[in-house]
Amino acid sequence: MKDLYDKFAYDYDEFGPIEAYLGDEKTFLNKIFSEHGVKNVLDCACGTGQHLLMLAQLGYNVWGSDFSKAMLEVAHKNLHNRGCTIPLEQCDFRFLEQVFEIKFDAIVCLTNSLPHLHTDEDLLTALRSMKNRLSKNGLLILTQGTTHFTLSLPSIEVVVNRPDFSRIFVKENDDRFQTIHILDLFHSAEHLESNQYDIVYRILLDEDYKRLLSQAGFTNIRMYGDYKMNNYDAKSWRLIVVAESLE
Ligand SMILES: C[S@@+](CC[C@H](N)C(=O)[O-])C[C@H]1O[C@@H](n2cnc3c(N)ncnc32)[C@H](O)[C@@H]1O
Repeated sequence: MKDLYDKFAYDYDEFGPIEAYLGDEKTFLNKIFSEHGVKNVLDCACGTGQHLLMLAQLGYNVWGSDFSKAMLEVAHKNLHNRGCTIPLEQCDFRFLEQVFEIKFDAIVCLTNSLPHLHTDEDLLTALRSMKNRLSKNGLLILTQGTTHFTLSLPSIEVVVNRPDFSRIFVKENDDRFQTIHILDLFHSAEHLESNQYDIVYRILLDEDYKRLLSQAGFTNIRMYGDYKMNNYDAKSWRLIVVAESLE
């Protein structure tokens, strides 16, 4: 599998510093974890480490893994610079059991990470691997910005707009896939550079998750449309999936 983030990793945090996550997301995860008595959490697509930092600061025991060595290198640096030591492993989330012997109370796979897999076969392999690494009554949380509503928005989006840097998403959709062309433009006097990264996501919506998670053996599958726990609907900006592994 190709690492789509091998170069993008080093500029990924131009989205904003890793502390700059939404407060609502923190409240959401903390609430749901507290209700389920979660202590140990694996972020299996940890990227540059923003959720690892957040969850460690909330007092959870956290582990991070990601397929991309470059993302892990940036995560390690980000966490080290903030005085935070968290075990980080390179691992494809289809094969978590090859790296992790322990089981977790919760596994998170956040911000459009699972849709990097394009076939039902790969998606089921990943969901089964996640289930396999969950303890009894363990929780799986998946989040993404792809929703029925966001798929209907204009195809060009300015995501970061600073005097020295702009990040623009140009999106192309068909029935099954969404390609995001990420255009990074550094435009200060000191730094003139442009980069393009192209990421193809499988479009997975509420019914797809219900089907795949059920097939992988998850139960109690819930879909939220925001971090305030409103149900997912046609106007949602986010799709947040919570499922349980009862065995
Ligand atoms: C859009 S980024 C999200 C990163 C992070 N979760 C966040 O919220 O910023 C997607 C991440 O998924 C990772 N990823 C994609 N496919 C993967 C796989 N098969 N196994 C593990 N990680 C994967 C990428 O390397 C990347 O770090």
